[in-house]
Amino acid sequence: MLVASLPRLPHWLLRHRGPVAGWGALRSLWSAPAIGRPVEAHELRTARLILRPYRVSDEADWRRIEDDEEVRHGLDWPLRTARQVREHLVDRTAHTTLARPGDLLVLAMELDGHVIGDVSLHLRTVALETRVAEIGWLQLTAAGGHGYATEAARAMLDLAFDELDACLVTAVVERSNIASARLALRLGFRPAGGTAHRATFVIAASEHRPDRAASGISSPRPESVEKL
Ligand SMILES: CC(C)(COP(=O)(O)OP(=O)(O)OC[C@H]1O[C@@H](n2cnc3c(N)ncnc32)[C@H](O)[C@@H]1OP(=O)(O)O)[C@@H](O)C(=O)NCCC(=O)NCCS
Repeated sequence: MLVASLPRLPHWLLRHRGPVAGWGALRSLWSAPAIGRPVEAHELRTARLILRPYRVSDEADWRRIEDDEEVRHGLDWPLRTARQVREHLVDRTAHTTLARPGDLLVLAMELDGHVIGDVSLHLRTVALETRVAEIGWLQLTAAGGHGYATEAARAMLDLAFDELDACLVTAVVERSNIASARLALRLGFRPAGGTAHRATFVIAASEHRPDRAASGISSPRPESVEKL
């Protein structure tokens, strides 16, 4: 029998509907929809920064980031061994394409030849009408307080709305992470609920680029549904 010959399924897939529905859910994960034209990481320039994919040669800068207690605390990262730090960097160099839900794209923030942090986008949903990405950021404590993370995140929002065609970008922030919440608000995100421990912020394309909304490309508050 087909079901009997299937591999053992994780418990969460079986929980409510039994093994056949669980198998269907697993299969739908394997064939998760992809966006028509994947977004590939490429170099972006802002007023003060170069944003680009990580390189293995960034190891010394990456080690400083992993050694930064505030970064580790903000992201709940463990203190890694030298080998794990290297492996983590190699892993980060590979996050360069957004095509399917769960994909991650990371751009290192380079200032004067050194990496001081990064901004990232997680693709959450793919359908154009509901395409959502989640933004992330981290920065060396020593480089904080100059607006570099804000500048990099703005460029990443440009990529999310212009290249990925996201209609919404979210940021999920630990409620105790005041610097991160301030950054989200500075970028124009607005609070949209969350859990006891984490706050969710959202920004729509029309909020990131109100000038375009005003020119009629989209409108955040239409006067009537006919004008949507
Ligand atoms: C979240 C994080 C990136 C914020 O760093 P930051 O230094 O506050 O952010 P910026 O680099 O954008 O700097 C903004 C600060 O510089 C000031 N600033 C100075 N010049 C500025 C400029 N040209 N533009 C914008 N802000 C400027 C701002 O007023 C702001 O200070 P304030 O919050 O006291 O008002 C940093 O705290 C971090 O990496 N934390 C650890 C990792 C982490 O928690 N990641 C998020 C997980 S959800």
